[in-house]
Amino acid sequence: MSKFWSDIVHKLTPYVPGEQPKLDNLVKLNTNENPYGPSPKVLAAVKLEAADTLRLYPDPNSDTLKAAIAEVHDLNVNQVFVGNGSDEVLAHTFQALLKHDKPLLFPDITYSFYPVYCGLYDIEYKTIPLADDFTINIDDYEQPNGGIIFPNPNAPTGIPLALGHIEKLLEKNTQSVVVIDEAYVDFGTESAVSLINRYPNLLVTHTLSKARSLAGLRVGYALGSADLIEALMRIKDSFNSYPIDRFASAGAIAAMQDSVYFEKTCNKVIETREALIKSLRTLGFDILPSGANFIFAKHQVVDGAELTLKLREKSIIVRHFKSPSRISPYLRITVGTDEQSHALVEVLKALL
Ligand SMILES: Cc1ncc(COP(=O)(O)O)c(C=O)c1O
Repeated sequence: MSKFWSDIVHKLTPYVPGEQPKLDNLVKLNTNENPYGPSPKVLAAVKLEAADTLRLYPDPNSDTLKAAIAEVHDLNVNQVFVGNGSDEVLAHTFQALLKHDKPLLFPDITYSFYPVYCGLYDIEYKTIPLADDFTINIDDYEQPNGGIIFPNPNAPTGIPLALGHIEKLLEKNTQSVVVIDEAYVDFGTESAVSLINRYPNLLVTHTLSKARSLAGLRVGYALGSADLIEALMRIKDSFNSYPIDRFASAGAIAAMQDSVYFEKTCNKVIETREALIKSLRTLGFDILPSGANFIFAKHQVVDGAELTLKLREKSIIVRHFKSPSRISPYLRITVGTDEQSHALVEVLKALL
């Protein structure tokens, strides 16, 4: 606390990201990173950027990157917005499209950055409880609102919502923006991108941090009607003209273009996830359905906080959320390599 701070700083409750421990030999399954490195084509492209041209600013509009993204999703370039990680894209979205007189709606259990952005931008919000089985019931969102946002698959549950439900929501909710945060969509969840040309109030956000193995490069994007994208551009150009640096641009373009590597690594993560679910079930875990690169698992006897600590003593790091109490028995476990899964299962066998 300081008398030098602006008023709003006193009131903020900042987001706390998952730990990035500076220790070697950890089995790090706490922040949903991809266990496989980025495509070799990405590394080659980034290396090429270490050149004299670094003295020049990058393209403020990231036109080449936007074109590569538009091509993957079969959209026009003016339907693409890019930012420094999808967190930045989401922040601009909250400010540009979700601050209205009526409250923004999102689930009570969801990505915990959403209420933080509401605090930062003074946005009124209302949380909608997930059903008892942790699913999103779209009928619950049929009420006056200044916008709706949720991840699909949801985080930290990992549960996917079928595209038909999202379309039903869009049919009923035409007067405010619906944002589907598809950070984990490539691990087996249906994407809503195919609905963009029919619903001008739909914005879909993606990240290169997960399926494209580039959490360290910080690139995310939003897809939607040209009208929604223009609002995001107006915020971005009032905030930071160059959010995508030359390395990020080169690496992200190469990543978007390497669909073979992308599909191979996503399929491998899905395969490992299914094998891990099977093994954990035999050890007495209940596991929610996952369309993500992580699982949400509760042991039938041992508490989530206790298991997290015990795993940590064995150098395995998973994520535990103390609140709300409904999810405190659960561990959120990132799907790693087969070797990491094996290490986790062996340690759990010994612990339990
Ligand atoms: C649901 C969800 N959305 C968005 C993000 C942000 O990802 P990034 O800023 O790395 O693109 C995350 C990160 O974990 C997430 O879990």
